[in-house]
Amino acid sequence: MLEREILDRAARRRPYGRDVRLLVTGGAGFIGANFVHHTVVQRPDVAVIVLDSLTYAGNRASLASIDDRIDFVHGDVADANLVDRLVRGVDAVVHFAAESHNDNSLADPWPFVRTNVVGTVSLLQAVRRYDVRYHHISTDEVYGDLPLDDPRRFTEATPYNPSSPYSATKASSDMLVRAWTRSFGVRATISNCSNNYGPYQHVEKFIPRQITNLIDGVRPRLYGAGRNVRDWIHVDDHNSAVWAILERGRIGQTYLIGADGELDNRAVVRLLLEQFGCDPADFDFVTDRAGHDLRYAIDASLLRSELGWSPRFGEFRDGLAQTVRWYRDNQAWWRAGKASTERNYAAQGETTLR
Ligand code: NAD
Ligand code: TYD
Repeated sequence: MLEREILDRAARRRPYGRDVRLLVTGGAGFIGANFVHHTVVQRPDVAVIVLDSLTYAGNRASLASIDDRIDFVHGDVADANLVDRLVRGVDAVVHFAAESHNDNSLADPWPFVRTNVVGTVSLLQAVRRYDVRYHHISTDEVYGDLPLDDPRRFTEATPYNPSSPYSATKASSDMLVRAWTRSFGVRATISNCSNNYGPYQHVEKFIPRQITNLIDGVRPRLYGAGRNVRDWIHVDDHNSAVWAILERGRIGQTYLIGADGELDNRAVVRLLLEQFGCDPADFDFVTDRAGHDLRYAIDASLLRSELGWSPRFGEFRDGLAQTVRWYRDNQAWWRAGKASTERNYAAQGETTLR
């Protein structure tokens, strides 16, 4: 459909009701695309407009199978005019669009500042102007890191302490949302989720990088000593939580999303090697990430008790097996970006340690 037509339809604002119009930014990225698929299947009464600038991380092919059921606008969240025209025609916005990779933010922080900070302000100004419900997607990385072997986990009350340019820009964007809620009465909620895995994730990220390496017979690569801990959640569980917050969340509230999935990176690689029938020692240690956060862990009690949310994916091993199958079955989706991703890592100075 022509973008002009989409904008015209957005301008003829429809009332709340069965036919809810939802603007999803970053809907061609990993979590956003899974969210759009989830929404099209589970909420047929919701009309979805995707706004995405299709950076290296956005992939139109992720939405190909539902193309006739959504409106797609190729554009930038930092383009305040475009955002204004789209937001005035919808009932709610879910803001996923971001520069999302820590390693890239260390190499060049500028796109992170522009998209994550300026892009969020452009959306906040528009939802303020048209009194549109806004949900802000963020990360647990805004809280910095925790020591290893420590019972503490992040809660909604943990002070912000971001470590990387990526997490610092996400923390800034969360603060902007809070300011627009308090100062201008914007009807916003925020969610801070732990590390996601699942289909359609870019091959620069840890799990898909190692899966696609293994498919190609290349040994997985662990940063530093591989002891860093991440709290893994399947992307579908993240997105069901986002829907729970959209529908039942308290305005002005932050909700942490996590599924008790703490594992160190070595353990993840061991599970992958097992699934490929390889020796558990068949991996390499490579240069560590500068400022590498040690451990993330989420206490999602508020989300569970207040909104009655619980994850559907129980065993990480099973979710991982499903993800491995997806990458084996969808090689056309990821092959185009694999070589350039590995060239980037080499250019960033990644070398094998031992
Ligand atoms: P991603 O990098 O896979 O996708 C980002 C999408 O945003 C891409 O489609 C890209 O084209 C689009 N985009 C980038 N800049 C844009 C701009 N200026 N205008 C319009 N579109 C633009 O990211 P992801 O992993 O799907 O993450 C989505 C959101 O979830 C981000 O806000 C991220 O901070 C947050 N988050 C991610 C994780 C995770 O584990 N991946 C965990 C918690 C929170
Ligand atoms: P990543 O997927 O980049 O997510 P985040 O930085 O947001 O946590 O990395 C997850 C973990 O895996 C993190 O501790 C860094 C580590 N890692 C590796 O050990 N090897 C790799 O090749 C990559 C990309 C990441």
